[in-house]
Amino acid sequence: MDDPYSPARDALAGEGLGDEESSDPAVLAARLDDADPLSEFADRYHVPDDALYMDGNSLGPASDTALASLDRVVDEWRDLLISGWTDAEPPWFEVAERLGDALAPLVGAESDEVVVGNSITVNIHTLVGTFLDELLAGNGPEREGFAAADGEWAPSGDPDTDPAVLVNELDFPSDHYAIRAQLRQRGIDPDEKLRVVPSRDGRTIDPRDVEAALAAHDDIGIVWMPTALYRSGQLFDVERIAAAAHEAGAYAGFDAAHSAGAVPHEFDEAGVDFAVWCTYKYLNAGPGSIGALFVAERHHGLTPALAGWWGHEKATQFEMNMTYTPADSAGAWQIGTPPLLSAAPLEGSVELLREAGIERLREKSLALTDFLIALVDDRLPEVAVGTPRDHASRGGHVALEHPDAERLSEALKDRGVVVDFRPPNVVRVCPAAPYTSFADVLEVVDEIEAILDSGAHEKYATNEGGVT
Ligand SMILES: Cc1ncc(COP(=O)(O)O)c(C=O)c1O
Repeated sequence: MDDPYSPARDALAGEGLGDEESSDPAVLAARLDDADPLSEFADRYHVPDDALYMDGNSLGPASDTALASLDRVVDEWRDLLISGWTDAEPPWFEVAERLGDALAPLVGAESDEVVVGNSITVNIHTLVGTFLDELLAGNGPEREGFAAADGEWAPSGDPDTDPAVLVNELDFPSDHYAIRAQLRQRGIDPDEKLRVVPSRDGRTIDPRDVEAALAAHDDIGIVWMPTALYRSGQLFDVERIAAAAHEAGAYAGFDAAHSAGAVPHEFDEAGVDFAVWCTYKYLNAGPGSIGALFVAERHHGLTPALAGWWGHEKATQFEMNMTYTPADSAGAWQIGTPPLLSAAPLEGSVELLREAGIERLREKSLALTDFLIALVDDRLPEVAVGTPRDHASRGGHVALEHPDAERLSEALKDRGVVVDFRPPNVVRVCPAAPYTSFADVLEVVDEIEAILDSGAHEKYATNEGGVT
């Protein structure tokens, strides 16, 4: 089959923006849009006509299908009241499991390994806490040849044998806050036992450094990494990291916030132990929408660190026993009543992504970011691309680095180009595949070029501490 996006790839491969027929990027963009099998999907998302929305890696837009599933639940609430838990179609009672089923194929998992609930940060608390408890109970993975713990961790409080969690210095801060708190709650000193892989270039994490940390420290019980870094967009080799963790006798957990819904994953095949992600970014389920998590089947039946009645075995949940029997699925890591109105849009938004197909979305996303990077290389000499260029290491957005990135992002927003700024010098541009055209990408680069050439960004003040 012909690759409809090959001109974008060729442009990035150094053949220039045009081809023998034309060297005009507008012609190239039009050709790419004409050939794009997903171009019709944009009409089903609500992005204002005068906006170029490049911030779907922070908050995805509403779609017709997401609004329809939300409206349906609002109607059910009005019409059915409490009986909606059992009589709505489908019943609210199983909403978290049902949405888990819908998400599972996007991450390469079985239905009962994925559930929605809580938020990313809460899910990190409960999952990292659960697996720390397993380590402390001596139930961790095999650790042959590791002196500190060959399957036997000492009770907490002994710095020589307490388990450590391996993270990296470019992580999203909330992950570190939560993991530190979980270590502290077990009497483990986070200053000692949160081991942080440094970045060589301030943008990316080299997987060899994760492996080196595992070789250097025999106390690492959990490796916690992102699937994609929030600032540079570097995509991690999940299978490689999971294999390295297991070889060292550690669990492998991932924060998939910046790839779920944009990049297909194979969590089961890769041997991932547990993972979390949100649904408000590439899954387009709305602001503050419900979180999602994965727990590999081999770990089902464990008692979650943050247990609650909604994670109880479903068949007996309403017997109201004082003792907790965890559901024999990832559903056990739910805590309280699922927020129906924060879950409802996900049903419709996932339906649309599944109709487009995650593999096709990824293919288009790579072509869009190829095109963007080629245009930046060609037209914006003062802007550096902070995102890896090879496809295997590139997530869904591109980090454009400029010393005046904050002002540049403000100037872009004033011109209807919605991007975001991440300190110290990054403008994140996310041409999300379901609703972005190649012509949109060209327009963004035109706007950046016009702003930088005219110095229009220089009149903007920097915003210390606001939401960007
Ligand atoms: C990579 C990553 N991890 C964690 C979080 C925190 O998520 P939440 O606020 O849903 O807990 C975010 C939020 O954007 C994120 O991007």
